[in-house]
Amino acid sequence: MLNFELYNPTNLVFGKGQIEKLGSLVPKGAKILLAYGGGSIFKNGIHQQVIDNLKGFEIVEFGGIEPNPHFETLMKAVAIIKEQKIDFILAVGGGSVIDGVKFISAAVDFDGNPIDILQKRLLIKENAVPFGTVLTLPATGSEMNSGAVVTIEATQEKLAFGGSALFPKFSICDPTVIVSLPKRQLQNGVVDAYTHVMEQYLTYPHDGYLQDRIAEGILQTLIEVGPKVVENPGDYALASNFMWSCTMALNGLIQKGVPSDWATHMIGHELTALYGIDHARTLAIIAPSLYKVMLETKKQKLAQYGKRIFNLEGTEEEIATKAIEKTVEFFHTMGMNTKLSDYTQDYDKAADFIVKRFDQRGWKGLGEKQNITLEKVKSIVEMSY
Ligand code: NZQ
Ligand code: ZN
Repeated sequence: MLNFELYNPTNLVFGKGQIEKLGSLVPKGAKILLAYGGGSIFKNGIHQQVIDNLKGFEIVEFGGIEPNPHFETLMKAVAIIKEQKIDFILAVGGGSVIDGVKFISAAVDFDGNPIDILQKRLLIKENAVPFGTVLTLPATGSEMNSGAVVTIEATQEKLAFGGSALFPKFSICDPTVIVSLPKRQLQNGVVDAYTHVMEQYLTYPHDGYLQDRIAEGILQTLIEVGPKVVENPGDYALASNFMWSCTMALNGLIQKGVPSDWATHMIGHELTALYGIDHARTLAIIAPSLYKVMLETKKQKLAQYGKRIFNLEGTEEEIATKAIEKTVEFFHTMGMNTKLSDYTQDYDKAADFIVKRFDQRGWKGLGEKQNITLEKVKSIVEMSY
């Protein structure tokens, strides 16, 4: 097992009715910026619950953080925080609102042009405005990690950043909030979390036995509850296991001491930047092709996955190949289309565009062995057409 440090200071407050604790979680006397998205929190009553539980606090509201949050929008919140001397931010929403708030938090006291946080992928280790979250969409794990992804509208770039100062101080995760989610978002959540586990699990054999077993446990739970929770989000057993699986998939735990890949995400982000495809759906498009193109590198782990998750039998090669098919089947069960041409007519420029971008950024070798070269990226994207 590789050496590691596990640091996760987020106070995760999980369960039905936990939003009642909000007033005791926000620092006493804080002036709060309440940040939210396109307004779903007004329709499902979460906004009211937040206000009811923050009596006595001074609150300034900032709405309109879009899915795949834009740098340009977030900079407006940065100005408000400076003008109005805000000292705490509360993100109420899904991954986009939480990620947006991470950027705002980092940008307020940033010395220089905040766009550098994204374009130079700077690590934010200090000087972040403290923030908490009320999660409304299980998917990204952003509620318990220190990473985020923000889109620069002007350049059509979707860029990841993070740092130890960007963990939420607390996150309230009440599984009952998922009842108002559209089916498409529930499906997205399951597939995003599933792929997060795969990015950290489907590499090469190592001696992080426990990490593998925890990862497999999350995959099995998502396979068990995923299709059902989409049909019945009001079932608390399904909703709570779904939400907890999503958090556990990307709160850092299963990544410790083991190699990880993340190339599916890096390529997927480009498809969102180019075509506006939902994050999770870009992963369902790219992952199967990536596993096929990287079969030689990933064969042993694919075989382990095939045996332990799908009870497959045969030679290593047969199980590995079948495991990829089973993964695609699961994505289809979860309502995903797995080909780029299902989403856009304009698909055939994608491979060259992405390769050029990666080349400009100096990303010449992605994946757990840095052997996903630009040539391989091209094959992966073309195979996903
Ligand atoms: O904006 P509102 O009106 O709130 O509506 C949202 C949005 O339209 C709606 N929604 C959220 N909660 C709801 C609800 N509708 C009804 N009822 C509720 N309870 O859902 C829509 C999608 O929301 P969004 O936050 O965009 O979805 P998600 O949580 O999937 O976040 C996706 C973003 O997170 C990034 C993605 O790249 C993408 O930008 N990721 C962040 C990661 C991280 N920080 O660790 C890792 C991930 O891999 C991912 O890259
Ligand atoms: Zn993701």
